[in-house]
Amino acid sequence: MSILIKGGRVITAADDYVADIFVESERVSLIGESLDLQADRVIDAAGKYVLPGCVDPHTHLDMPFGGTVTADDFESGQTSAAFGGTTCHVDFVIQAKGQSFAEALDTWHGKREGKAVIDNGFHMAVTDLSEGGSLQELASLPDQGVTSYKLFMAYKGALMVDDETLFRTMQVASETGALVMVHAENGDAIDVLVEQALAEGRTEPHFHALTRPPETEGEATNRAIQLARVAGSPLYVVHVSCKDAIDPIARAREAGWNTWGETCTQYFFIDYSFLERPDFEGAKYVYTPPPRGKEHQEHLWNAVRTDTLSVISTDHCAFRWDGQKTMGRDDFSKIPNGGPGIENRLHMIHEFGVRSGRLTLHRMVELLATSPAKLFGLYPKKGTIAVGSDADLVLFDPDKRVTLSADTHRSKADYNLYEGTEVTGAPVTVLLRGQVLVDEGELVARPGIGRFVKRARFGERLNEVRAEAVA
Ligand code: URP
Ligand code: ZN
Ligand code: ZN
Repeated sequence: MSILIKGGRVITAADDYVADIFVESERVSLIGESLDLQADRVIDAAGKYVLPGCVDPHTHLDMPFGGTVTADDFESGQTSAAFGGTTCHVDFVIQAKGQSFAEALDTWHGKREGKAVIDNGFHMAVTDLSEGGSLQELASLPDQGVTSYKLFMAYKGALMVDDETLFRTMQVASETGALVMVHAENGDAIDVLVEQALAEGRTEPHFHALTRPPETEGEATNRAIQLARVAGSPLYVVHVSCKDAIDPIARAREAGWNTWGETCTQYFFIDYSFLERPDFEGAKYVYTPPPRGKEHQEHLWNAVRTDTLSVISTDHCAFRWDGQKTMGRDDFSKIPNGGPGIENRLHMIHEFGVRSGRLTLHRMVELLATSPAKLFGLYPKKGTIAVGSDADLVLFDPDKRVTLSADTHRSKADYNLYEGTEVTGAPVTVLLRGQVLVDEGELVARPGIGRFVKRARFGERLNEVRAEAVA
């Protein structure tokens, strides 16, 4: 199947020009002016942006968590992603205590089998190095294309690891070329605060935020940065929510240490006051780190503008309000932590980042596609539009008006974090490796089309890996 995309405004992290794009054998094979070529399908892209498919490096599909399982499996979650212009994501395999990494990885491969609508890779969330996976097994994961290790410094009694596990994993990463990712919060201090709040009868959703103050995020971020320096591993701090965590990342980056940070769409828009909404509606905004005071939002915009933070992900971890969030009606610590968002990242960042003048179109593409692809070993196959890259393309209509709502989103979540928000600009046609996935508001591809992507090691480019394999 060949496709000729005519006259779109091609926008990458570096370029902005009007051109035709010829797609063949899953890849972009030619870019030029007025291409006169026969194709199975011609798409008129006049007046539209042609963007690289967005890459979401932080999602949780079909994940057991907080006494339940996330509402979106690979089919509904990836369908939702596709409608939002995301064609590749990296999801977290969670090693259960006592489980080997191979068993955990097999389980997650099984979850996507026959359901995948877009491409995805996996990170390995390390929870147990004493009785579960060994250091040797951890070291072998990059050979299987799993080139990032994730550690939770919070969620005591569940996913949290101690500093020894964190540090040993960092040492393995420094040898294997994997990227270490941390959920940076001081889980011990938070556990004490939660216990004390509950003992005082403070059970409502907003105590989720009051028991996880910004200082606990700042402390853990700094600790992870310093430990990564000692171990000699690169570090990526996920879902940065506040100035207290931005500051140590800024210092580290100024000093030239191998530190990167990510924030998520919701932290720009949802603040602490949402947790105080009556009738338990606040539970919709119980995710971790929690929504912060409004004053943190300008710090986040500034950080993504200046590359103190290099990626905007979604941390899509959807639960239904009815039946899942309500498990914590009488105890905020029992509300499953997480929110939906995989479908609306591009809508929201285009509207409030680009259209409101905070970010250039190039920077938006960099934050949503190019940087995550580079950091997570997917570039230049993913994350840009270039001859030889996967033809993961988003035709984006900058004039299309949409109202974001749970009534129309494809996630199984029964609420939308941005309910009722009107945006101008939306993806209209989305291609995955040259196959049309979404066409004028309809899903046209069948589940099963998405592939597992083996990722290159940190700092190694995928085409170098390919070249080595051929030599
Ligand atoms: O609340 C959140 N973020 N849930 C997903 C797990 C995590 O911490 O990323
Ligand atoms: Zn987290
Ligand atoms: Zn997460």
